[in-house]
Amino acid sequence: MSQQPPQPQVQGEAGLNFDHIKRSIAVASGKGGVGKSTCSVNLSVALAEMGAKVGLMDGDIYGPNVPMMMGVRAAPEVVEGKLKPVEKYGVKMISMAFFLEEDQPVVWRGPMIHGAIRQFLADVDWGELDYLLVDLPPGTGDAQLSLSQTIPLTGAVVVTTPQGVSLADAKKAKVMFDKVSVPVLGVIENMSYFSIPGTGERHEIFSSGGGKKFAEEYGVGFLGDIPLYIGVREGGDEGNPIVLREPDSEPAQAFKAAAKSLMEICDSLGGDGPKKETVYF
Ligand SMILES: Nc1ncnc2c1ncn2[C@@H]1O[C@H](COP(=O)(O)OP(=O)(O)O)[C@@H](O)[C@H]1O
Ligand SMILES: [Mg+2]
Repeated sequence: MSQQPPQPQVQGEAGLNFDHIKRSIAVASGKGGVGKSTCSVNLSVALAEMGAKVGLMDGDIYGPNVPMMMGVRAAPEVVEGKLKPVEKYGVKMISMAFFLEEDQPVVWRGPMIHGAIRQFLADVDWGELDYLLVDLPPGTGDAQLSLSQTIPLTGAVVVTTPQGVSLADAKKAKVMFDKVSVPVLGVIENMSYFSIPGTGERHEIFSSGGGKKFAEEYGVGFLGDIPLYIGVREGGDEGNPIVLREPDSEPAQAFKAAAKSLMEICDSLGGDGPKKETVYF
């Protein structure tokens, strides 16, 4: 008697087509609160300002903050059976926050995360994109690993703050991406320093230079230092990213330079970047 071959977990879904997305980049961090979502939002807006077609997937299912930081409250519409991402500041965005009750924590089990992210890829009408940025949940556990495997990533950006404990966790993120053969394209050091308004006197509250050292040690790109700046936090709470809110400020300039470097690193990969594989679920 012949045995049935193993069936894919999701029937009828042979795989996902990524031809319409040129580059998909995860924004990751070893720990929460280092400014991963802030970086995802500002990099996306800066890339869009530079003329790229940009999508932003809020993959942080535990703390989906992207809509708030982008100033979006409206839920996406369904058109011809597909979700239309909400567009703001030239960026197409989708988030689990649209589908959850406000202020309710979510308890996710592995298969649910998988299903949600699969839907964000398969059932969202992203259109043609030059970049899809994915704000990953903080940390380097199973959820992050599974997300990094579910989405065929061109590479990752690791966000860290300068102090030792954050860098130690950022290194774990690098090891995690190595495991799933996702190249780390660059490192951002956020909350790098604080300039006293008026005098410009620089204070390195969380130490400094760790991000650059990390990049050198692991042979990955350094995308820049983002200073601690009140307008970054205010812009996040108001839904008005600093890149647009105060375009000439130090952090806005730093985010724009980081986006430019990221674009150059992606271009240096040649063609449309590494061939994206079809994913099976
Ligand atoms: N460079 C910065 N200067 C001032 N506040 C910042 C900066 N980066 C992030 N923040 C603020 O710190 C908090 C945590 O940032 P967030 O992006 O939510 O971190 P994560 O996504 O890593 O948890 C937010 O309130 C955000 O506005
Ligand atoms: Mg976040």
